[in-house]
Amino acid sequence: MNPETKRRLRLLFSLFRPRLAALAAGFAALLAVDAMQLFIPRVIRDAVDGIAAGSADEQSLFRQGLVIAALGCGVFVCRYGWRRLILGASRQVERDLRARIFDAVLGLDAPFFHKNPPGSIVALASNDLNAVQMACGMGLVALVDAVVMTLACIGFMLAMHPFLTLIAVAPLPFLALATALLSARLHHRFAAAQKRFAELSEFCRQSFAAIRLVKAAGIEARQTRAFGRIGRSYIRDNLRLATVQGALFPFSGLMGNLCLLLVLLAGGRLVIEGAVSVGELVAFISYLFMLTWPMMAFGWVAGLFQRGMTSLSRIMKVLDSRPVMAEPSEPLPLPAMDKGVRIELSGLNLDSGPGRRLLEGIELSAGPGLLGIAGPTGAGKSLIAAVVARILPVADGCLFINGVDANRISPAAWRGLVAFVPQHSLLFADTVRANIALGRPDAGLAEIEAAARAAAIHDEIMAMPAGYETVIGERGVSLSGGQKQRLALARAILSDKPVLVMDDPLSAVDAATEQEIIANLRKIFRNRTCIVASHRFSLFEEADRVVVIERGRVTDRGSHRELAARNPWYAMVAARQAMDLKP
Ligand SMILES: Nc1ncnc2c1ncn2[C@@H]1O[C@H](COP(=O)(O)OP(=O)(O)O)[C@@H](O)[C@H]1O
Ligand SMILES: [Mg+2]
Repeated sequence: MNPETKRRLRLLFSLFRPRLAALAAGFAALLAVDAMQLFIPRVIRDAVDGIAAGSADEQSLFRQGLVIAALGCGVFVCRYGWRRLILGASRQVERDLRARIFDAVLGLDAPFFHKNPPGSIVALASNDLNAVQMACGMGLVALVDAVVMTLACIGFMLAMHPFLTLIAVAPLPFLALATALLSARLHHRFAAAQKRFAELSEFCRQSFAAIRLVKAAGIEARQTRAFGRIGRSYIRDNLRLATVQGALFPFSGLMGNLCLLLVLLAGGRLVIEGAVSVGELVAFISYLFMLTWPMMAFGWVAGLFQRGMTSLSRIMKVLDSRPVMAEPSEPLPLPAMDKGVRIELSGLNLDSGPGRRLLEGIELSAGPGLLGIAGPTGAGKSLIAAVVARILPVADGCLFINGVDANRISPAAWRGLVAFVPQHSLLFADTVRANIALGRPDAGLAEIEAAARAAAIHDEIMAMPAGYETVIGERGVSLSGGQKQRLALARAILSDKPVLVMDDPLSAVDAATEQEIIANLRKIFRNRTCIVASHRFSLFEEADRVVVIERGRVTDRGSHRELAARNPWYAMVAARQAMDLKP
């Protein structure tokens, strides 16, 4: 067994282990069903032979009928039992595996999410997980059932008449082969139809998410046509699927009847010659029909296992992924911070793929107090902010806090020190209060209100339908870009960490509100280390120092005044923004 398969089986076993008792009971019920089903033809044989020999009477026939009915009831109960137990266990395995995927993905960091968009992760946790569940549930059941039934049926048939058995089962391997071939094709077409369905729903989602744009641009008719096109493809793919599906079952019926033809020809002769009794022939035919399902099952199970294994390796790749910013092997304790926090970047380079340098030799030192990062769009300001917030990984010896290398400190401890306001603020579909208190769920309302006041959003929150309890986001009150930014700012202020990193925090806030916030932030800057990346310079008047970033390099540094006097680009932008500020 190759090591990869071994690893997969080990994972599956660890998932199944807590449910071995239920599985054992389930398979016992499954075997009981098989045994009872296999016994029924023998009762029929005795009954028919009794009738043929003239020895049967009403009483004996009634007794035999009763035995068959009792066996039928037993089959009913046990079938319910194994479905409940085995499929239930496979659903629980699915749930555990889903939880593991969720945890594993949550533990990963930016480089992983750059390669795997949310859609692919969702597909992993739905389609791939489903394939694994099918293989572990129905796949396993069908395999055990098929093996037992095949061996038992052929065994009983051989015991009755070896030669007749040979003739009867001759066409069956073809059925197994055909099912395997058709299943493979079925799988491809099923995947195609599913992909088309995903396309259809994604188109729907996009159209309605951007309904305002659709209306404003007047492209309803175009969207309708495009939707119709995808809908037609969806039907075509499903018809292609139905052709294969439609062929599979009739084909097994055809093969079963072919076997029957052979048995009637050969077996009929044997009955006429007296070598086989009528009852035996009837029982023989019953066993033959019982064999068609396992033959089909082999092909089906092979496909199911193959798909399940492919999906499982995809899942394991994610489970095995490790965050780039791993816990250091010997984490250092956090440095002393009673005299404030100093964040330093030294010779920081950042590449996206070979030959594409995004940041080059960044040197900067911040705190305590406010450091501004200025620069045109696309210069690399957000990248620097993300590095300091430890969202993007850095090489050793590039990022320091009070002289200690960031890579020697646990990422979790670092994030406990640094509050980050990202450029695009994200809110959960929850209350305003919960959104602000995200990092400090224990915070009291007074603290939350104080933070909201500092971010100049308190009055607007009070004007919302339920104040701080108003639900925002999906199916709640929707907020303007500036409101979202200020909520994110309030969240960072409330988190009360010694370092505050803000990436263009006020880009969507109007000039007057911006001034109010800056006045509030002044108090916060005093005893903290703040790094603010912005393409708006009003904040920089408060800064101790401003660095100018252009095309991923530091091209100038100084106070706001110095830069406004000396740096032509800075002066031009500052002048233009000063004009905007005038009432
Ligand atoms: N994850 C990424 N992979 C590749 N390129 C990126 C990534 N993030 C940002 N960039 C590129 O890096 C450059 C700097 O981006 P950014 O820091 O967002 O600029 P800004 O100064 O406007 O904040 C841009 O050219 C951008 O396209
Ligand atoms: Mg940016």
